[in-house]
Amino acid sequence: MSEADAAFWDRAARKYAKSPVADMAGFDRTLARTRELLPPAASVLELGCGTGTAALRLADAAQRYLATDISAEMIAIAKEKAEAAAADGTRPDFRQATARELAAEGTRYDAVLGFNYLHLVSDVPEALRDIGTLLRPGGLFISKTPCLGDMNPLIGLAIPVMRLFGKAPSSVASMTAASLAEAIRAAGFDILAEERHGSEKKDTRPFIAARAGD
Ligand SMILES: C[S@@+](CC[C@H](N)C(=O)[O-])C[C@H]1O[C@@H](n2cnc3c(N)ncnc32)[C@H](O)[C@@H]1O
Repeated sequence: MSEADAAFWDRAARKYAKSPVADMAGFDRTLARTRELLPPAASVLELGCGTGTAALRLADAAQRYLATDISAEMIAIAKEKAEAAAADGTRPDFRQATARELAAEGTRYDAVLGFNYLHLVSDVPEALRDIGTLLRPGGLFISKTPCLGDMNPLIGLAIPVMRLFGKAPSSVASMTAASLAEAIRAAGFDILAEERHGSEKKDTRPFIAARAGD
């Protein structure tokens, strides 16, 4: 686990928890589509769950839902939110962990989810291989994450400057949707769907559903 990344997200956590979802209609579409794709009675692992916003809305679609994050502070807030939430249906479990650590434990899941996560890992191909290890054969991987390579190049230029002031994490990948899809295929997945759920005309966060090899 990168201590620097964990520390950045720990510092950001309380403010992140207070900021509203930027595009609630798009988020709702993503959750609805994820529910549709999840197999019945699934064991689900979420990576980079942050303060648990998606986990708290999706857990009742699964038999078991483990939501994880590199940041202990994000996980602490997620647990506070879970305590305060109504307790209907399956409740998510929250745990500080990375894909690397979880893959070494040997548990396999029916589905792995990552929302606004994959562009932040320090080594995307390695994370995708770990996700392949975390899935049972034929398991489902769902990602929706910003593709900086499809955005205004000024954003890419601003990130190192923001980093100097402690306003950006050390790892931010500048993939395009095409290079992300290629990396997912190279890790042994078949892409089942690539969709855009955002409300704005230009949506640079592709929703990708992929099936792990057998
Ligand atoms: C932009 S937030 C997104 C949180 C949540 N998924 C959401 O959509 O609101 C990114 C999250 O990824 C976590 N993160 C960053 N790098 C990570 C890594 N290598 N492994 C696990 N989590 C990571 C951060 O701590 C943070 O909570």
